[in-house]
Amino acid sequence: AIDPEFEQNREKVEDHDGHAVWGPVDEPEELGIHGTHVAVDFDICLADGACLEDCPVDVFEWVDTPDHPESEIKADPAKEEQCIDCMLCVDVCPVDAIDVDPG
Ligand code: SF4
Ligand code: F3S
Ligand code: ZN
Repeated sequence: AIDPEFEQNREKVEDHDGHAVWGPVDEPEELGIHGTHVAVDFDICLADGACLEDCPVDVFEWVDTPDHPESEIKADPAKEEQCIDCMLCVDVCPVDAIDVDPG
């Protein structure tokens, strides 16, 4: 499961389309955590898709991650600022790859 303390335990290493990426990152097999308010651990996500289907405000978009061992697409929290903290995505992800921190 995603580490809910990732902000303490990881370093912000890059920006992806306006949201943070928390390392370590070593492409293509290690991709880190994308987003902060809505955070997706790309190294755990296996492209189930329930988060994209269920999010009422369409926070997530698929991004291509060729040659990642778990899946070659990931749910990117592209519009994390639109999140309304309903927690549906956290509940439906089968591998607990998502952390939402209403902060
Ligand atoms: Fe979407 Fe709700 Fe998840 Fe926020 S908590 S990203 S609104 S499903
Ligand atoms: Fe990935 Fe979980 Fe969504 S596996 S696609 S973050 S439901
Ligand atoms: Zn991203």
